[in-house]
Amino acid sequence: MSGTHLPVMLAEVLDNLAPRDGGIYLDGTFGGGGYSRAILDAADCRLWAIDRDPDAIARGAALLAKSGGRLGLVQGRFGDMLSLMHDQGVTQLDGVVLDLGVSSFQLDEAERGFSFRFDGPLDMRMEKSGPSAADLVNKLPEAELADLIYQYGEERHSRRIARTIVAARVEEPITTTARLRSIIHSCMPRDPSGIDSATRSFQALRIRVNDELGEIERGLAGAAELLAPGGRLVVVSFHSLEDRIVKRFMQNSTGRAPGASRYAPSALMGSNAPASFRLVTTRALRPGEEETRANPRARSARLRTIERIVEAA
Ligand SMILES: C[S@@+](CC[C@H](N)C(=O)[O-])C[C@H]1O[C@@H](n2cnc3c(N)ncnc32)[C@H](O)[C@@H]1O
Repeated sequence: MSGTHLPVMLAEVLDNLAPRDGGIYLDGTFGGGGYSRAILDAADCRLWAIDRDPDAIARGAALLAKSGGRLGLVQGRFGDMLSLMHDQGVTQLDGVVLDLGVSSFQLDEAERGFSFRFDGPLDMRMEKSGPSAADLVNKLPEAELADLIYQYGEERHSRRIARTIVAARVEEPITTTARLRSIIHSCMPRDPSGIDSATRSFQALRIRVNDELGEIERGLAGAAELLAPGGRLVVVSFHSLEDRIVKRFMQNSTGRAPGASRYAPSALMGSNAPASFRLVTTRALRPGEEETRANPRARSARLRTIERIVEAA
């Protein structure tokens, strides 16, 4: 069932990262290796790639073998990139790219439980370890469940959904994607836009299971530490919660719009520190029409880039 993952905004990523011969780069979200392959092809550089999903790392074996020693694959979280890179003896990078969210491999495999398009175990763990979506759905108190669906799914019917889930789990634990979807459908009106009414709740659970927003905060801070002067950070995000954190971080590190948010505390942003980066993309780049036609997953993508300023001597 799982075939391939079409890299999103690949031409724009390469253009913004601008890899050069002799440089050292990090692809923090290896996935199907689409960006990594293109970076290795674009320059005679060294590339480190991280993914938290053991399946993605295993799938990277062929590219690793072909890379002639230029690629290093590390299983772990990009939120830990600072220590993961230090473990490899790397203290400075010439570029970092992050392609947030899940891969088509993960979405298309029923057993991973990320999608309600197929029935599967209610799992959603990118790392295949730790508490699963089923653990949250069956164990969290109703109010906490409602809060997470509201916060991470931006779902205004969160209280009603949480109440219905709690009533259903008393009958029998909720262990499959299909059952959760039908429980949500049972209490939700049909969305006139045609979007499945379970979409936002599934997104919320996935974000919480994988601490995705916390990972972005830590990953951006790690990249800022590791980038050498002239080095670039390129981030592709897929929904407003992700993009909001990226945008704020980039504005703050380039000396614009200081201020804290729940997901982007000012301490993390170093908003009082002098700007050490410049904005390469003044506004988020969006995929072209042709790409969104060919790859619907690209539709909501936004790409933002900053570059570490080269200090005057
Ligand atoms: C959208 S895919 C990347 C696709 C890749 N750019 C390509 O062209 O094939 C996202 C990947 O990032 C991984 N991922 C998500 N969050 C992560 C994190 N915090 N640390 C490491 N990997 C992460 C996922 O497991 C998934 O494989």
